Amino acid sequence: MRYQLAPLHCRPWTLNGISARLIESHYENNYGGALNRLNAISEEIERLDLGDAPNPSLARLKRDEIVALNSTLLHELYFASLGGDGRVVPHELASSIAKDFGSVDRWRQEFVGIASALAGGSGWVLLTYVPRDGRLINQIASEHSQSIAGGVPILALDMYEHAFHLEFGANAGAYIAAFMRNIDWSAVKQRYEDAIKVAPPRPLEQKEFGDVPSISVEEVREMMKSGTPVQIIDTRPKHYTTKAQDIMDGAVWRDPERLDDWIGTLSKTEPVVTFCVYGFHIGCQTASALREAGFDARYMAGGHYAWKAIKGPVKLFE
Ligand SMILES: [Fe+2]
Repeated sequence: MRYQLAPLHCRPWTLNGISARLIESHYENNYGGALNRLNAISEEIERLDLGDAPNPSLARLKRDEIVALNSTLLHELYFASLGGDGRVVPHELASSIAKDFGSVDRWRQEFVGIASALAGGSGWVLLTYVPRDGRLINQIASEHSQSIAGGVPILALDMYEHAFHLEFGANAGAYIAAFMRNIDWSAVKQRYEDAIKVAPPRPLEQKEFGDVPSISVEEVREMMKSGTPVQIIDTRPKHYTTKAQDIMDGAVWRDPERLDDWIGTLSKTEPVVTFCVYGFHIGCQTASALREAGFDARYMAGGHYAWKAIKGPVKLFE
C-alpha cells in the first residue's frame, strides 16, 4: 500500500506570528519526509521474505512504520489545527472541555503546561477524544507514537524543535503562545463532532439476562461509602467457595442452590446486590429470582473479580 500526500491544510499567509517560511519548511521537510519514509518502509515490508524462519527485520520495520505513519497523521492534524484566531472556543465544545477539565482555562493551562514541559525535548501534545469513556483528554505522544488506543486526536501541537527553531530559536514559550493564538477552533469543533460519533467498544452482552438490571462495582463501592443500606450477597457456587480464600468485605455468602432456605432472611425495603465469580450466570440468575419474589435486586457486573480489580476491600472467607 502507498500512502498519499495531503495538501497543506492551513493558509500560511493568514497566520499570526508564524511565518510562511517556517510552515513551508515544516511541511516540505518534516511532513514530506515522514510520508516518504512511510512509503519506503511499506515497500521494504512488502519485499521481505516471510518464509518459515522468523525474519529479524520485520519487527524493526513495523516499529519504524508506526513512527512514520503517526508522524504523517499528526503533522496533517497539526497543519489542520492552525488558521483561526485562537480566541473563542465554540459553545458546545467549550462545555465538553469544561465537563472534562473543569473549565476551558484549566484545559488551556494543562495543555500549555504539557507543551512547556516538552520544550527542550520533543513530542506532541494532543487533545484527544476517547470513545470508551466519552471524554476528552490531553496527552503527550512521544516518538510520534504512544497515541491512546481508540482515541481520536482533534488538536495537535508539534513540540519537536523542527517545528519552531528556525524562527523562534530556543524560545519555545513564544512558539507555544503563537500556536495558541492561531488555533482554528471551528475546525477543532468539527473534528470533535465527528469524533463523538465514533462508537465506544462494544460492552459485554448477556442477552439471556437482558432484563435483569446490573450495578457496577464502582456504584456498589459508592453506596457502601455513603452508608446507603444495601444487602450484598455473594452467591459463588459452593464447589467454588471450597477453594476461595477471600470474600468481599460487607458481603455474606449464600448457597445459590438453596435460595429458598435464605430468601426469608432478606429485607424487602433495602436493595439487594448479588454477585458470583465473574458476573455471568449465577449472580444474574439469583438477582432474577429475587426480583420475581418482589425484591429490589441487581447483580454486580464483573462479580468477585471486578470487585478485587478496583481494590475493593475483602476479608478472609471462612
Ligand atoms: Fe513536525
